[in-house]
Amino acid sequence: MYQISEFQTRNFADTINPCTNEASGPGRQNAAEWLRVGFHDMSTADKEAGTGGLDASIQYELDTGENLGPGFNTTLAFMSNFLTARSSMADLIALGVYASVRSCGGPAVPFRAGRIDAVGPGRTGVPQPDHPIESFRKQFARMGFTPAEMIQVTACGHTIGGVHEAEFPELLIQGEAPLDSSVADFDNRVVTEYLAGNSTNPLVAGPAVALGKASDARIFASDGNATARALADATVFQDVCQAVLQKMIDVVPRGVVLTDPVRPYRVKPLNMQLGLNPYARDMRLTGRIRVRSTDLPKEMLGELTLTYKDRNGTSDCGPCTTRSTFRGVSYGFDDSFVVSRSFPSLAGSCEREPPPLTVAYLVLSHRRQHQRLDRHLVLHHLYLPQERDDALLRQQRQPLPAARRSDDPGASQLSQPAHGRDQRRGSRSYPLPLPLPFPHQPPHHQGG
Ligand code: HEM
Repeated sequence: MYQISEFQTRNFADTINPCTNEASGPGRQNAAEWLRVGFHDMSTADKEAGTGGLDASIQYELDTGENLGPGFNTTLAFMSNFLTARSSMADLIALGVYASVRSCGGPAVPFRAGRIDAVGPGRTGVPQPDHPIESFRKQFARMGFTPAEMIQVTACGHTIGGVHEAEFPELLIQGEAPLDSSVADFDNRVVTEYLAGNSTNPLVAGPAVALGKASDARIFASDGNATARALADATVFQDVCQAVLQKMIDVVPRGVVLTDPVRPYRVKPLNMQLGLNPYARDMRLTGRIRVRSTDLPKEMLGELTLTYKDRNGTSDCGPCTTRSTFRGVSYGFDDSFVVSRSFPSLAGSCEREPPPLTVAYLVLSHRRQHQRLDRHLVLHHLYLPQERDDALLRQQRQPLPAARRSDDPGASQLSQPAHGRDQRRGSRSYPLPLPLPFPHQPPHHQGG
C-alpha cells in the first residue's frame, strides 16, 4: 500500500492522487469522498457501549438517509479490490483517511491495522447540518470526542471538498460549492475565512443560515471561537488534525485490538523462492529485494550483494555470492523504495555434502557507488515451509539414477523425515520479512 507510484505500484492512491483528482466525475473530489467515508463510518460509534466505530458497517447503511451521495459507493467499490484476508474493509477505510489527507498536503496520520469488519448495519447517528448544537455535542460525546475535539475534527474534515447540489440542493445554486477557498489543500482556511467573516462555505454562509443548516458556523462558534482561533495557526492546525484524525480512525468496537503504527520494512524480500534443482544438487534462492530508501538516497545504492551462509554462519558452498542491480524506484507519500532486479540465483552446491535445507542466512551488503562496503544487513532466517519440504521429500523419494544412488551421500540424508533434521521446520510460513535494525548508519548518509 505504501508504493503508490512508479515501479511495482500498488495503485491504492490512484483515484485520490493528486488531491484535485476527480476520477469519478466533475465536481467529485475523490480524496474528499474518502475522508468523509471515514467520518461517517466512525460517527455511529457508541464508545461507552463499545459498539460501532471504524468497522465498515457503512456498507450496510447506505440507505439510512444519513449517508447521501455517490462517494460512499465509489469509495467502497474501489477499496474492495484491495480486500485480503489481512486487510479488512475497515482497515482500508482507515488507510484511505491517511492517504487522502496526505495527498492533499495534510499531516501523516499514523495508521494502525487490525480492524474487524461488521457483518451488518450499526445504529444511526451521523450528524446532519440541521441538528442543534446540543445534539452535535451529544453525538460527538457518544463517539468519544470532547466539545473542543468536535470543533477540531470538523474543521480538519472540512478543509477539503465541498457541498453538492445533488445531495443538498437547498444549500447552493448549482454544482459543487467548496467548504473553503482552497478546496484541494489541507490547510486552515476553513477556519481563517470563518473567523474573518469572508467564508463562502455553504455550511457557514448563504441559504444555510436562514434554513438553520449552517452547521459549521454553529460548531465553530460553540465555545466562543476559542478553538477556531487556536486553529488559525497553520502549524497548530496540522498538529491538531494529525491527532484528532488518528483518534477518529482508531475508534473501534470493544475487543478490537489495533497494532502499533505500521511502517514500511527497511528491507523486504519479495517473491522469494528457495528450491532445489533436479536431484537436489543445488539449492537456489531467487527473488527481489525492496529497500526503503527514504533516508538513504538511491544514488548511494550501487548494488546489492547477497551472500549465502549456512546454518553455522559459514559459506562453504561454492558460488556463495551474487550481485543484483536495481530494477526500479517507487514512491509512497512518505517513503521511497528501490527494488533490486530479480537476482539471477544464489546457488549452494552440494557436491561435497548436502546444503542445510531449512536455514539460510543472507547478508546484504550495501555498496556505495564510489566507496567500499559501508554496511551490512542480516536478513532473518529463511525457513523452508513444510508444504515445500513435503513436495521436496516426495521428489527426493523418487528413485535416483543408478549412477547417483551409490556416489551421492547427500541423497540419502535428504530423504530423512523433516522433523529429524530440524525442529523448526514445522513452520508453515516464511517468517520474513521482519523489521530489521540498520546498524552502523553513519549520520553523513542523510542527504548525501
Ligand atoms: C457536525 C458534523 C458534520 C456535519 C453536519 C457535516 C456535514 C457535511 C455536509 C452536509 C457535507 C456536504 C456533502 C455533499 O454535499 O456531498 C459535508 C462534506 C464533507 N464532510 Fe462533513 N460534516 C460534519 C463533520 C465532518 C467530519 C468530522 C469530517 C471528517 C473528519 C467531515 C468530512 C467531510 C468532507 C471531506 C466533505 C466533503 C465531501 C466531498 O467533497 O465529497 N465532515 N459534510
